[in-house]
Amino acid sequence: MSVSQSTLLSGRVALVTGSGRGMGRAHALALAERGADVVVHDILADEAEETGRLVRATGRRAHVEIADITDPAAMRAAVARAAAALGTIDILVNNAGIPAERTGIEGVDEAIFARIFAVHVKGTFFTTQAAVPGMKEKGGGKIVNVSSMWGQTGHSHGAAYCSAKAAILGMTKSWAKEFAPWKITVNAIAPGGVVTEPVLKKGGMEYVRKAAEAVPLKRYAMPEEIAHAVAFLASPEADFITGQVMALNGGQVIVGF
Ligand SMILES: NC(=O)c1ccc[n+]([C@@H]2O[C@H](COP(=O)([O-])OP(=O)(O)OC[C@H]3O[C@@H](n4cnc5c(N)ncnc54)[C@H](O)[C@@H]3O)[C@@H](O)[C@H]2O)c1
Repeated sequence: MSVSQSTLLSGRVALVTGSGRGMGRAHALALAERGADVVVHDILADEAEETGRLVRATGRRAHVEIADITDPAAMRAAVARAAAALGTIDILVNNAGIPAERTGIEGVDEAIFARIFAVHVKGTFFTTQAAVPGMKEKGGGKIVNVSSMWGQTGHSHGAAYCSAKAAILGMTKSWAKEFAPWKITVNAIAPGGVVTEPVLKKGGMEYVRKAAEAVPLKRYAMPEEIAHAVAFLASPEADFITGQVMALNGGQVIVGF
C-alpha cells in the first residue's frame, strides 16, 4: 500500500456488516489499510473480535458490535453505540449474508424464504436506515451494498436468494437517487464465485476448481480482490459514481448495452 493510498480514508469511520469472516473481514481490513477506523459487526462474537484485532494491528481503531442483522432495533442500537465509540459512520458496507437455498421451488418453505429475505433485504434496508441520518448530518457518505452475480442472472436452484440479491440492486438504484442531495453515493458489487467458507463447504477446492471452468479467467476470486473494489467505491476516487453495479465475476457475465 503506497503512502497516499494508506491515508485515502483517514478520518473516516466504516461499518462493515457481517465482517467476522469471509469477504466482510477482507472489506474491513482493506478499509483499515486505507486509513479508516472500522466498526466490525457480526452475529459470531469470536470471529468479530478476531477481525477487530486484525483491524487494530493495521494501526486503526476498531469497535466490535454483535447483533442480528435481521433485528432493526438491535442494528439501530449497534449503530448508535458505534457512532458514540468511533464517530459518525461515513462508510457503510452492507455485506452480511447467508448462502442460497440450493434447491428448486418445492424445497423452499416459508421459513427458508423468510430467513433469506430477512438477512439480505430487511438487513440491508434497516441498517442503512439507521446509518443514513448521520451521513446526512455530515453532508456525505458512501454506501456499498453486496449483491451477487446471481442477483443479475438468476440461478435454477436459488430463486429466493437471487431475488433477495436483486432487491438489493433495487435499493441501490433508489437510494442513489434519494440520497444524492446529501452527497451520499450508493453502489453495489455483484461478485461471482469467491473462495469463502460457504463456498468451500460445497466441496472444498475441488468444487471451486470445477465450478471455475465456467469462468473465463478460470478461477474464483479471493476475498481481498473483492475488497479492493469495495474500498475504491468507498473512497473519494469514486465520488462521481452512484447507483451503479460493479460486476466482479472474472468475465462470467459480460453484459452489452
Ligand atoms: N462467496 C461467494 O461466492 C459470494 C458471491 C456473491 C455474493 N456473496 C455475498 O457476499 C457476502 C459475504 O459472503 P461470504 O461468502 O463472505 O460468506 P461468510 O458466511 O463467510 O460471511 C457472511 C457473514 O455474515 C454474517 N451473518 C450471517 N447472518 C447474519 C445475521 N443474521 N446477523 C449478523 N451477521 C450475519 C456471518 O456470520 C458471516 O460472518 C454475502 O452477502 C454473500 O451473499 C458471496
